[in-house]
Amino acid sequence: METASAKYDVVAGSGLLQELAPRIERVVKRLPRRIFVVTSQEIWALWHCMQQSFGEAPVVLFLPPGERYKTMASAERLTREMVRAGGDRSSLLIAFGGGIVGDVGGFVAAIFMRGIEYVQVPTTFLAQVDSSVGGKVGVNLPEGKNLVGNFLQPRAVLADIGVLGTLPDRELRAGLMESVKAGIIRDRALVRYMEEHAEEILKREPKALERVIAASIRMKADVVRRDERESGLRMILNFGHTVGHALEQATRYKAMLHGEAVAWGMIAALYVARRRGTITGGQMERLERLIYRYGPLPKLKVSAGRVLAATGSDKKNVGGVRRFVLPGGIGDAGVVEDVTGAEIEAAVKYMLVRARTAG
Ligand SMILES: NC(=O)c1ccc[n+]([C@@H]2O[C@H](COP(=O)([O-])OP(=O)(O)OC[C@H]3O[C@@H](n4cnc5c(N)ncnc54)[C@H](O)[C@@H]3O)[C@@H](O)[C@H]2O)c1
Ligand SMILES: [Zn+2]
Repeated sequence: METASAKYDVVAGSGLLQELAPRIERVVKRLPRRIFVVTSQEIWALWHCMQQSFGEAPVVLFLPPGERYKTMASAERLTREMVRAGGDRSSLLIAFGGGIVGDVGGFVAAIFMRGIEYVQVPTTFLAQVDSSVGGKVGVNLPEGKNLVGNFLQPRAVLADIGVLGTLPDRELRAGLMESVKAGIIRDRALVRYMEEHAEEILKREPKALERVIAASIRMKADVVRRDERESGLRMILNFGHTVGHALEQATRYKAMLHGEAVAWGMIAALYVARRRGTITGGQMERLERLIYRYGPLPKLKVSAGRVLAATGSDKKNVGGVRRFVLPGGIGDAGVVEDVTGAEIEAAVKYMLVRARTAG
């Protein structure tokens, strides 16, 4: 992975957890005196073996699971615990968990003592294919998701496929939605692979998982390399996220997983694309079928009005411009700025109808 600000390895494979310390040492040259692991209790209970390769046990800091702890308050608490445990500017942080741990852990690394180095060791499918790569770190505000944060590239991303063995099925399926997204916006072959190998993927056959993870990471790394700070191309990664984030916000981050919200958001965005003719009816059907294949998607107990209100506060609207990612065929996408409120309303209504009838 190479961006304007950093160059680092993204490794996905088996057995990485057993060799974390030497792998990290290779990139940071010398392991610092204080190493912090930010994780959650449930992940630690399952995978504390990750500390075995360290000579001295790292200091473990816990973040309770759930989007409602992805907050400034959590970040403040963690930084205070780090100070009390002797952290300094040379300390290293390892974010060991899903996307929430990764976003909060990375944010803490970005602000602690004005910034320390960190490594991502993602443990959910979503974190392995998406959130751990690209250096976006941050927390939510009551006003909206990810509204406070920064860009800070990790020194390395080490994704051990073995840890996915304990991931609940629903989490796996939700994470796979980001790979579906990756395929739709930039990788036709990945779309076809996910269509043809859904059974192996959902059964977690290592070869199939590795294929999907590698392709998703490659896509994201390529986009981020060209546009680290989201001034243009990187916006396509937000395909499905305008309405997806609105759904999460309208249901107070409680009713569905991020990937599930993105799945519904992609269906809404496909509808806009279909109406504009940037994709054909046949393509829309095919892509909707692919999304449902990795479902079931949650039912939506929310009104169109609430979802629409939430789209209005999306931070991707620059100066009142409504930015929206539309696919142009399969494996291609672009950003448009002229999507009207009426189009989004029609798309949200379509999505709500599909939530009642499809699946
Ligand atoms: N920074 C980015 O670029 C980016 C991109 C996409 C998403 N995100 C963020 O990622 C977050 C979602 O991440 P997520 O989907 O990984 O959810 P998550 O971090 O909430 O993890 C999901 C659940 O799985 C548990 N878990 C994690 N690993 C496990 C394992 N190996 N075995 C068993 N249980 C395990 C966690 O404790 C948690 O309860 C959202 O906040 C989203 O905004 C960030
Ligand atoms: Zn996402």
